[in-house]
Amino acid sequence: MLDSANNNIPPAALGGSMRDFRVLKGENLLDRVDSFFQWQDLRRQNGLWPFSRSTEGGPTAVCAARDDQGNRMEGVNFASQDYLSLSRHPEILNAAKDAIERYGVHSAGSPVLVGNTVDSIALERRIGTFLEMEEVLLYPTGWAAGFGVIKGLVRSSDHIVMDALAHTCLQEGAKAATKNIYQFRHLDLDHCRRWLSAVRAKDTRNAIMVVTEGLFSMDSDTPDLAAMQDLCREYNATLLVDVAHDLGCLGDDGRGHIGLQKMLGKVDLVMGSFSKTFASNGGFVACKSRSVKEYLRFYSTPATFSNAVSPVQAAVVLKAFEIIESTEGRSLRAALMRNILSLRQHVRNAGMEVYGDPSAIVAVRMGSEGLARLVSRRLPEVGLLANLVEFPAVGKGAARFRLQVMANHTEQDIQQAAQRLHVAYLDASAEFDALPQPELEMAIA
Ligand SMILES: Cc1ncc(COP(=O)(O)O)c(C=O)c1O
Repeated sequence: MLDSANNNIPPAALGGSMRDFRVLKGENLLDRVDSFFQWQDLRRQNGLWPFSRSTEGGPTAVCAARDDQGNRMEGVNFASQDYLSLSRHPEILNAAKDAIERYGVHSAGSPVLVGNTVDSIALERRIGTFLEMEEVLLYPTGWAAGFGVIKGLVRSSDHIVMDALAHTCLQEGAKAATKNIYQFRHLDLDHCRRWLSAVRAKDTRNAIMVVTEGLFSMDSDTPDLAAMQDLCREYNATLLVDVAHDLGCLGDDGRGHIGLQKMLGKVDLVMGSFSKTFASNGGFVACKSRSVKEYLRFYSTPATFSNAVSPVQAAVVLKAFEIIESTEGRSLRAALMRNILSLRQHVRNAGMEVYGDPSAIVAVRMGSEGLARLVSRRLPEVGLLANLVEFPAVGKGAARFRLQVMANHTEQDIQQAAQRLHVAYLDASAEFDALPQPELEMAIA
């Protein structure tokens, strides 16, 4: 393990960003990526590359993990996405075992061929009932669902009006579908309206999709969904809401912000992921008509030309819905919310700033990437697993730690997380402030 008190960190490892390597020049596709690796490795050799880690025993509240060089650390885990702690729930494990007995482990085909199972069909129905939407189509991942629903429906002459902070799967789907993309400032409905009005003033023949999230994955905030849906009606546009981070885990009944805002069954298109709350890979799109579902099934290529979710995944998510709708689900959500509120309070009490509204995402502001990297360098030593978030997940200069809360974190885990992050932050700030600023500024520029 690296000694975090070692101050001889090259400024280039604290500066720079993945943004610098998005567009590479050079005639050889493979050779030209070396520059990224050199920068990454400089960070790695200085203990400043906290990505691509692996756990030894799964996403438990306290766990052991290794970095991508094999260095081991142990600590309280606020870096995993298992919001209701279902990944080791005995009934979920039994559902997985039972599915293995019944189906084997592989779906062995696209859902348009024979990749579906009794469980995956039942899961589609269950999600539809849960969201009060008529039809649901499963996808192999949430990413595929977000990308696929946009690319599947929007054509090059159509328009997409989207929140500037929408998830990459939505941004990439939009770019793949059309050049006519208009980003509105995060959560700014007036700005959204201005785009809709400008587009409709010029084009009444082609379609518009408006894209947002139920709960933003880096900022933990939420749009006014009813107002957005009204706006869409006014301009004959279609609303798509990504509920990856709130479905199942937020709201008394687990319906997330769509439920909290009394919009069940009223949003045009809902897409979600199973990877945060439902203990599995996979995703879905919910819509209101069979014709939309059938069109997506055959024209949304990640649903058509990719294998169906495995029978084990389908059985696990089906069981997760059963738990989520039970009294136990309610208690798990209550425990999660207690933990969220407590962590936010402890972080604030320590003088650090958290983003947004209470959700399983507790993002702690750092700002400068250099400072955030120095904090991350200390976390293995103090015993905290938390994800450093920097570009491309957030804008440059908006680095943060995203702590993800689980229902089975204890109050002690939470206190330790806040206290350890604070200790690392204080030490790192002192080190950061003592660095030769001109050199650093040049590296960061
Ligand atoms: C808002 C949002 N949408 C979609 C996804 C993709 O989900 P999955 O992990 O199932 O591919 C994520 C996960 O990072 C997300 O945060």
